[in-house]
Amino acid sequence: MAKQQIKLGLVGFGTVGVGVAKILQNQADLIAKRSGAEFTVVKAAMRDVNKKRDIALAPGAATTDWKEVVNDSEVELVVELMGGTDVAFEVVASALKLGKPVVTGNKALLAERGEEIFALSAQHNTPVYFEASVAGGIPIIKTLREAFVSNALVNLSGIINGTCNYILERMTDAGLSYQDALKEAMDLGYAEADPTLDINGWDAGHKAILLGAISYGFLPDPAKTYVTGIENVRLEDIELADKLGYAIKLISVVKPACDKTIEIRTQASFVPQTHLLAKVDGVFNAVALHGDEVGDSFIYGRGAGAGPTATAVIADLVDAANGSKGFLPYNATSYTVADIDETETAYFVSIEVKDEPGVMAQITSLFSNQGMSFSGTFSNVNPSEPDAAMNSVSFITHKAKLGTLKAALSDLASLDCVTNEPTYYRVESFE
Ligand SMILES: NC(=O)c1ccc[n+]([C@@H]2O[C@H](COP(=O)([O-])OP(=O)(O)OC[C@H]3O[C@@H](n4cnc5c(N)ncnc54)[C@H](OP(=O)(O)O)[C@@H]3O)[C@@H](O)[C@H]2O)c1
Repeated sequence: MAKQQIKLGLVGFGTVGVGVAKILQNQADLIAKRSGAEFTVVKAAMRDVNKKRDIALAPGAATTDWKEVVNDSEVELVVELMGGTDVAFEVVASALKLGKPVVTGNKALLAERGEEIFALSAQHNTPVYFEASVAGGIPIIKTLREAFVSNALVNLSGIINGTCNYILERMTDAGLSYQDALKEAMDLGYAEADPTLDINGWDAGHKAILLGAISYGFLPDPAKTYVTGIENVRLEDIELADKLGYAIKLISVVKPACDKTIEIRTQASFVPQTHLLAKVDGVFNAVALHGDEVGDSFIYGRGAGAGPTATAVIADLVDAANGSKGFLPYNATSYTVADIDETETAYFVSIEVKDEPGVMAQITSLFSNQGMSFSGTFSNVNPSEPDAAMNSVSFITHKAKLGTLKAALSDLASLDCVTNEPTYYRVESFE
C-alpha cells in the first residue's frame, strides 16, 4: 500500500475510534511530513449515529451497519475498534477476504480467534496490524518485531493491565480493601462498568498470548495459558509482602521453558521492591524485557485511554501505508505452551496454624519430603507480647516447580495444626 492518500473505514467510533479521528485531524501535517501519507476517514460505523461525539464526521460517513464500511469501494483499510469477538470477527474476516488490510486494538479477538484470522490474512495476502491491542501507548509489539528482531527473548515480564495495577497500588499505599479500591477505580473511570476481564486477569492474559505469538511465532492456545486475577489478593498479603521487601503486582510472564515449550502466565506475584516493575504506579503499564543480545530493557507508559491507544493505531496505519508485512505465525507448530505445573519460581507461602508445639517442625518436614526448602521464614512477633499466640507462619521457598508446591500444599491438609487453606504467591526473579 505504498501510496500517499489513504481512505479509512472505522468500525467502532467510541473512545479509541474518536481518538484516532481527532489525532488524524489535529496532527495531519505532522503525520504527512513524517510518513508521506494522508489518511481520511470516509466511513465509520457505530451503534447510535445520533450520539454526540467529540468530532464531526463528513456528511454521510456515519452508519450503523459495519458492512457499509467494509464493503465501501472507497475504503482501502479497515480499522476495527468496536471490541468483542463475534461481530468483530465478521468485520475483520470480511475485510481480509476483500484484500483490505486491518488495524485492530482487539486483544480478545486476536487471542481467542487468532488462528482463523491469521489463516485468512495469509490466504488473502492481506496484513493485520495490532499494536494497540497490547499496552496502549507502549510500542511493545514494534519493539519485539522490529527493534529486537535479532534477539531471542529470554524473559518478558510486564504489568499490562492498568486497572489491576491501580487497585493493587491503592490497597498498598492507602490500605484500601480490594472492594473499596475496585469501587474507586470504577468511580474514576479506570475500570469498566463490567470489570470482570480486568480483575480476573484475562485482559492481561489475552495480551500475554499476543506477546507470546510475536516473540516465538506460534499462536498459544488460550486454554493452556495460566491466568488468575487479583480478586483474592488480601490486604494482609500486601502488608506482609511490604514487610518482606516486596510489592504485589499483576505480572504477565512470557519466557522459554524446556523442550520447545513457552511459559505464558498471568497472576498476582511478589515483585522485589528494588525492581523497576515494583515502582510502576497507578494505571501505568510497563514491560521488562531481556533479549539474548541486548540484555535488559524496560518500557513504561500509559496502557489505555484515547490518546495512547489511538497513537498506537496510527503507527499501524503508517506501517500499512508503507506496505509493512503484518504478523504471520512463523513457527506455527514448533512450540506449545508449557504445563504450568512444570514452571519454576520461588514462592511466598502463608499458613494459618494452631498455636501448639512442633508446628514449624511438622510443616518444614512436610515440605522437605517434597524436596522443597525455605530461604527464610517469617512470623509476626510483637516485642511487647512475646507470649502471644502464633496463628500463622509464612515463608519463602527456594525455587521449585509449581506442581511440587501444590503437592506440598495438598499434603498440608493432613496436618491437624493447619487451620485454613494456605495462601501462596510466586516470587518473580525475572530470569
Ligand atoms: N479504551 C481503551 O483505552 C483501549 C485500549 C486498548 C485497546 N482497546 C480496544 O479498542 C477497542 C475499542 O475500545 P473503546 O474503548 O473505544 O470501546 P467503546 O468506547 O465502547 O467503543 C466501541 C464502539 O463500537 C461501536 N459498536 C459497538 N458494537 C457495534 C456494532 N454492532 N455495530 C457498529 N458499531 C458498534 C460503538 O457504538 P456507539 O458509540 O454508538 O455505542 C462504539 O462507537 C476494543 O477492542 C478495546 O479492547 C481500548
